[in-house]
Amino acid sequence: MTVVAVLPGDGIGPEVAAEAIRVLDALGVDHAEHAFGGGAILAQGTPLPDETLAACRESDAVLLSAVGLPELEGRPVRPEQGLLGLRKELGVYANLRPARAEGIDLVVVRELVGGLYFGAKGTRDDGTVFDTCEYHPVQVERIARRAFEIARGRRRHIVSVDKANVMETSRMWRRVVTTLAADYPDVTLEHMLVDNAAMQLVRAPEQFDVILTENTFGDILSDVAAEVTGGLGLSGSASLGDGRAGLFEPSHGSAPDITGQGIANPTGMLRSAAMLLEHGLGRADEARRLDEAVDATLVAAPTADLGGSATTSEFGDAVLARLGSL
Ligand code: NAD
Ligand code: IPM
Ligand code: MN
Repeated sequence: MTVVAVLPGDGIGPEVAAEAIRVLDALGVDHAEHAFGGGAILAQGTPLPDETLAACRESDAVLLSAVGLPELEGRPVRPEQGLLGLRKELGVYANLRPARAEGIDLVVVRELVGGLYFGAKGTRDDGTVFDTCEYHPVQVERIARRAFEIARGRRRHIVSVDKANVMETSRMWRRVVTTLAADYPDVTLEHMLVDNAAMQLVRAPEQFDVILTENTFGDILSDVAAEVTGGLGLSGSASLGDGRAGLFEPSHGSAPDITGQGIANPTGMLRSAAMLLEHGLGRADEARRLDEAVDATLVAAPTADLGGSATTSEFGDAVLARLGSL
């Protein structure tokens, strides 16, 4: 039996998760909710309880909204540690963050379990604090292979983003990606330095098809890509490994500034649910129907972040109505 583990998380997380849960119900997908993030820290002292991790491992796919509580910022135990731990434990090294708008259709393929986020870190005797960017060539090869395969299903153009003029990890990244390109002669590969890539994304986003990059650069560039295609509330993502349970989560956070107002845009969450249906459950036809219903609702009943007045649940109502009639 198919089961989806749902982690509603913190802030606007439960608000947008509620709309995705209504869609899962409408499609007859079984799901169960589990404690995760700031709420789990307050109740159980840990952002990723053992029960939650076990349920995620046993599920066919994990749908996560967002974590983060202002009152826990700077504490030794933080919600974000649970998110990084879950990504690592599930081995979901490939984070796909599509961004679409009129004339723009790109996907950021972000390495998710290496680099600065997971390298050596600490404080030296003299008080210096350090985070280290670390990559093994095997980690680069597997994410690059994923990007080449994704490019084959698209416009066959990869821009690999690095900082090879400064960083050793970037020079190795560039070597590995260039070597691998020989296996994919039908795909065009270009290299771009990250500062230029950020500028190009703002200036001419239509030039990009697949953007392949490491963890930190991908975090930043995917927010830029979201903004130039309508805003952070619109961006969904799929985090995939070679194993069973993929992780599906919007790119945005818990948005403490609008929590509790019922105005969060659930699009990023619903697009993540569509990716879950496609990549996690093999239900591509329902995924396409959900994406179409969301696209139509963005025009007919936009939320406040898009200049409209639909509430989170009114947006969900409109999506469900369309889903029923498609
Ligand atoms: P954020 O993404 O939560 O918010 C940035 C801005 O975008 C805010 O103005 C917010 O109101 C707006 N926004 C975000 N999602 C929206 C939506 N669905 N609809 C309408 N507007 C939306 O980023 P932040 O404020 O830098 O971070 C807040 C907390 O979230 C922090 O604790 C951070 O660590 C956490 N965070 C979690 C995730 C995640 O769980 N995947 C991602 C990013 C940030
Ligand atoms: C994201 C978030 C996370 C990240 C944080 C909350 C750890 O910003 O999913 O983009 O940096 O990966
Ligand atoms: Mn981010």
